[in-house]
Amino acid sequence: MSDSDERVTVATLRKMKERGEKVVMLTAYDYCTARLVESGGADVILVGDSLGMTVLGHPDTLPVTMEDMIAHTAAVCRGVSRPLVVADMPFMSFQVNAEQAVSNAGRLMKESGAQAVKLEGGEEVLPQVSAIRRAGIPVMGHIGLTPQAVHQLGGFKVQGRGVQAAKEMLVDAQLLEEAGIFSLVLECIPAEISAEISRNLSIPTIGIGAGPDCDGQVLVFHDLVGMFDDFTPRFVRRYAEAGELIQKAVCDYSADVRNGDFPGKKESFSTDPAVLRRLRDEWSAGEEH
Ligand code: KIV
Repeated sequence: MSDSDERVTVATLRKMKERGEKVVMLTAYDYCTARLVESGGADVILVGDSLGMTVLGHPDTLPVTMEDMIAHTAAVCRGVSRPLVVADMPFMSFQVNAEQAVSNAGRLMKESGAQAVKLEGGEEVLPQVSAIRRAGIPVMGHIGLTPQAVHQLGGFKVQGRGVQAAKEMLVDAQLLEEAGIFSLVLECIPAEISAEISRNLSIPTIGIGAGPDCDGQVLVFHDLVGMFDDFTPRFVRRYAEAGELIQKAVCDYSADVRNGDFPGKKESFSTDPAVLRRLRDEWSAGEEH
């Protein structure tokens, strides 16, 4: 954990890498969760477009809109003061050209209060990364399994297994650092390749399914606490079964409502008996007329 209550900045993250301190990143998509994630000690909160699946119920991240990202990121920002908040740029908000990318990154920052944006891709997004950076907006990169390209990749699969693919990833990482990203997410790639990339870069790498030698780690909040059951990637470690806990709470509540146990005296308000008597008298007198 970075050493103070001060807001984590891109400079803090670079110093953490220099000191060999691991960066803790976690996704959050709403005010309450963001507060829990901050109090649990995360350095960075990613408002990932994974919210399309975990919160909005889409089959992948492609339908997520700028409006979705702005609303959820703004809710997260209202809840936290220490972690760096990074907002994902949704599918087709940056791919068309650098001009559109700057305009959408600016909108995300302005309307949500995030401190940085993240976008997926390697060499092909360098013009967008440079242009957003020139606008004064910190950019986090994301290579390996890039979920917005799921249909091109042929599914949610491990990337960079062959020599050529691994070489391309090393080159992409280098070029993205030169273009000015402050950190790089490595998703679902062999541990040895992410170790190599992490050694080669002076900015921190954040792994998800990328082995232990990245400079930091990220997981999707709903996976971490057992609240998303559609599928669980092999790289996830569940730290809680919150889904089961919540389901039990709802079952107990349903039973209590049905059998009249809820609400009880403790959860109800009462009025002075004299007020009640007068109300009844006046009401029945009124009915007689
Ligand atoms: O959208 C997301 O949550 C992400 C992380 C999995 C890195 O991009």
